[in-house]
Amino acid sequence: MDLSTELAGLRLKNPVLLASGTWGYGQELSQYLDLSLFGALVTKGISLEPRPGNPPPRLVETPCGLINAIGLENPGLKAFATKIIPYLRRFKVPLIANIFGESPEEYVTLTAELSSLVDAIEVNVSCPNVKRGGLLFGSEPAELARLVEKVCQAASVPVIVKLPPKTLGIGELAQVCEAAGAAALSLINTVPAMAIDLHRRGSRLGVISGGLSGPVIKPIALKLVYEVVKAVKIPVIGIGGITCATDVAEFLILGARAVQIGTANLISPRAGSRILQDLPPLLSELGVSSVSQLIGSFRSE
Ligand SMILES: Cc1cc2nc3c(=O)[nH]c(=O)nc-3n(C[C@H](O)[C@H](O)[C@H](O)COP(=O)(O)O)c2cc1C
Repeated sequence: MDLSTELAGLRLKNPVLLASGTWGYGQELSQYLDLSLFGALVTKGISLEPRPGNPPPRLVETPCGLINAIGLENPGLKAFATKIIPYLRRFKVPLIANIFGESPEEYVTLTAELSSLVDAIEVNVSCPNVKRGGLLFGSEPAELARLVEKVCQAASVPVIVKLPPKTLGIGELAQVCEAAGAAALSLINTVPAMAIDLHRRGSRLGVISGGLSGPVIKPIALKLVYEVVKAVKIPVIGIGGITCATDVAEFLILGARAVQIGTANLISPRAGSRILQDLPPLLSELGVSSVSQLIGSFRSE
């Protein structure tokens, strides 16, 4: 079975990637599975300076889902470049650095600094632009185009833009990223969500709201991936609620060239290796001998 896939100029040995923020930096997960098995690893969001993240509680479980309000806690660019990347490089697997910032300049500096250290950059645009009154970079096409253009100019590796779950107008967001030079798109990021504590009459999280992930968001992710695949020519990476090989195949059928496993890593640290193990027999069952035969095989009538 040929599991290889091509993405943004990168040849990946299989289409299963680990999603940003859901596997730490690998020190714990690598005790349960071999990180070198995956097509690529997408690291937790990195900003220029270290960030402490939000006060606890940061996680709330919902039926079939998880709301997180981690607040993008991370050790900052310097520690990432000097400690985390050298550790992850031992797994000899393509590394994709997920970045975020409060201003376009922060994204540009991160991109320039990381370009020589990783194989691709994934740009998290579900963050507020502090200089524009907190408007999310990824919520408005013109704003997004300006950011992606600047990041692509600063990059010497492929730039993947990670789109928010915008249910209206996702195709337009995807097209402006493509026109601005993005090499690929990944989607979806978490869905804005709340959980209420009846007795305190407040949020069950340490802050008002967070982001919903896990199986509950898979149908939303499938629909948005379908829209984006139709709208652009660049490769698409499907993310959202994937917990088994069948879920992977569903995204590939819609046209995603790869997928990322997120919350499933928190349900079981061995979820990723189980999915990788189950994928070849499932593909045989579906009558294909390679991942590329399955990609985009969706019949719309
Ligand atoms: C605890 C947690 C932390 C996350 N941190 C990040 C992050 O740092 N950057 C990012 O772009 N996405 C982050 N995400 C979003 C995931 O990468 C993924 O897009 C989302 O969870 C949907 O996939 P899933 O349903 O398989 O988890 C995080 C998700 C979770 C649950």
